Amino acid sequence: MAQFGTVFCEHYAIARYADGAWQPPTLTPLTPLALHPAAHVLHYASTCFEGFKAYRWDDGKAHIFRLYDHVARMQKSAASMCLPIPETDLLADMVIDLVAEELDDIPAPPSSLYLRPTLIGTMPNIGAAASPSNEATLFVLASPVGDYFAGGGRPLKLLVEDTLARSTEQLGSTKTGGNYAAALGPTLEAKEKYGVNQILFCPHGDVQETGAANFLLISDEEVITKPLDTTFLHGMTRDSILKLAADHGYRVNERNFTVDELLDFVATYEAALSGTAAGLTPVGSLIYQDKEIKVRGGSAGPNTERLRKALQDIQYGIVPDVHDWLTEAG
Ligand SMILES: Cc1ncc(COP(=O)(O)O)c(C=O)c1O
Repeated sequence: MAQFGTVFCEHYAIARYADGAWQPPTLTPLTPLALHPAAHVLHYASTCFEGFKAYRWDDGKAHIFRLYDHVARMQKSAASMCLPIPETDLLADMVIDLVAEELDDIPAPPSSLYLRPTLIGTMPNIGAAASPSNEATLFVLASPVGDYFAGGGRPLKLLVEDTLARSTEQLGSTKTGGNYAAALGPTLEAKEKYGVNQILFCPHGDVQETGAANFLLISDEEVITKPLDTTFLHGMTRDSILKLAADHGYRVNERNFTVDELLDFVATYEAALSGTAAGLTPVGSLIYQDKEIKVRGGSAGPNTERLRKALQDIQYGIVPDVHDWLTEAG
């Protein structure tokens, strides 16, 4: 299968906001957007987006994972970017209708359909740095994606960065392009210099997250991760894993921890990244102050795999969806 995010379904859903109201959305063939070069988003970065998946089961229907929670996160991001907030049903129905239209193009699990709602400020005004965009476009892209682990779910190597932040304190929990732009340069440099997969951002020693995933520590009894605040993205995978961990009898410990504590924890705890793209991925080693520290001395643990499978079993329809996380389409 092609590289993640490079192949798109034939249609996309689009709705425009003007004169204080959302216009009815349409499903149309995917063609380039016409955008005024003075569009607010191109100059002042008024944008936010979401990312989640639909799975096609043997029942011939698609099942969208945590649709309404992703819509709620998008609404929160839109509010923090001072963009018009799409109503819940407007955005949810755009996604459901698009998924139903493209049902035949959804590959069977472990592949899926990745969905990318995006909201941009389109007001043509280059003098509006300090004003919100009063025009906006909301669209949803659909992209068939393969199993992230097709190449083997090899444990990741992370650079522990205790100075730089990936975002600002007020925008860390907003899913907006600027945060990814801020993380890009340091991440490329870290890949080049240390051969790592990602940076674990720990500004002032506070262990937060990587450029595109949350960070968890897992033992036979406990899952530890940073409690929700505005400095990092509130991942839906993180939330799902914490709920499944509780179901499986793990103690869920949402607490702040420092880099020093992290280095102690990884002597005995497993470490993992959580996110829509990869589910729950084991972390095999950390680079800190030019030294490589193997997680659990290099011996993989069973808990990450156990929780990863518990999540997939719900997504693939192997076990009942007791948390009501799936929305049917098609
Ligand atoms: C910065 C960041 N953190 C965490 C996540 C994980 O979020 P989720 O589990 O909702 O995909 C993502 C991916 O969307 C992300 O971009």
